Amino acid sequence: MLRRPRRNRKSETVRNLIEETSLSLKDMIFPMFLVDGSNQKIEVASMPGIYRFSTDLMLREIETCMKLGIMAFDVFPAYPETLKDSIASESYNPETFYLKALREIKKNFPEICLMSDVAMDPYSSDGHDGLVKNGKILNDETLEILGRMSLAQADAGVDILGPSDMMDGRVGYIRGLLDENGYSETSIMSYTAKYASAFYGPFRDALDSAPKFGDKKTYQMNPANSKEALIEADLDMEEGADFLMVKPALAYLDIIKLLSENYPLPIAAYNVSGEYSMIKAAANRGWLDGDRAMFESLLSIKRSGAKVILTYFAKEFAMLSK
Ligand code: PBG
Repeated sequence: MLRRPRRNRKSETVRNLIEETSLSLKDMIFPMFLVDGSNQKIEVASMPGIYRFSTDLMLREIETCMKLGIMAFDVFPAYPETLKDSIASESYNPETFYLKALREIKKNFPEICLMSDVAMDPYSSDGHDGLVKNGKILNDETLEILGRMSLAQADAGVDILGPSDMMDGRVGYIRGLLDENGYSETSIMSYTAKYASAFYGPFRDALDSAPKFGDKKTYQMNPANSKEALIEADLDMEEGADFLMVKPALAYLDIIKLLSENYPLPIAAYNVSGEYSMIKAAANRGWLDGDRAMFESLLSIKRSGAKVILTYFAKEFAMLSK
């Protein structure tokens, strides 16, 4: 035998020499959940180790994470039913706790990269990402609401807006408004290929944001398709997105690869709530080694072509790699 591939695996040092992919905290964004009030830290039942924080405790948590080397955060708000309505008007109320928290986070930690979520669902009494009329999700009418929300978040000082709703034309619409209003420095990470996935279940528990009727299949993509991802990526690229995101990550590694090979923009992958909870649940029962399963999943996401990974494992990864 002339070729013996095992020679390149014979010791840890040799294995390290030929290692192609490595994980870095520099690539990670830590998604966090915010609630109103003070002194609140409530664990999400379906996401062990992940909490909903009030602003005061979130500031402390961010500081802890920064000491561990995490520098990018994506904050999602959990709103009580009483503040929801059909037009998500709370989303652009300048006095709302989410916008106040974003402003405060950025004021306390100007050096971090702060990302926010642009979609109606946390504020919508219908639990949908778009405006609902007669059981239909309207597109262009939704854009106006997303536009107001985006300006309000940009004004609060966020570094990256994350339109997560899959309405057509939203990236161009938001980019235009931002530029007209003096926010040309505010970036857009578009949820480019966001699939109608079962893996968002625990996130909807965390935010109490499940749709009140129907599903999200008229706007989120069909898991059976990959060509549509190319159309979405073309549009986002033309419309001015700074990052293209694929979501979920693990069941969509082929889509991550497809976009990373066809687009020069940085590709982000969202390692979503269900992907986190599956590993946690199995590890808690002793069915698999949670730490190793975490490293392997994150590595596969990076290897498939993602530059940025949004992951609930960020803090744990940081603690284990200290
Ligand atoms: C909705 C939104 C969702 C997630 C982020 N933004 C869920 C949904 O589409 O219902 C999911 C994130 C996760 O599961 O971790 N705008």
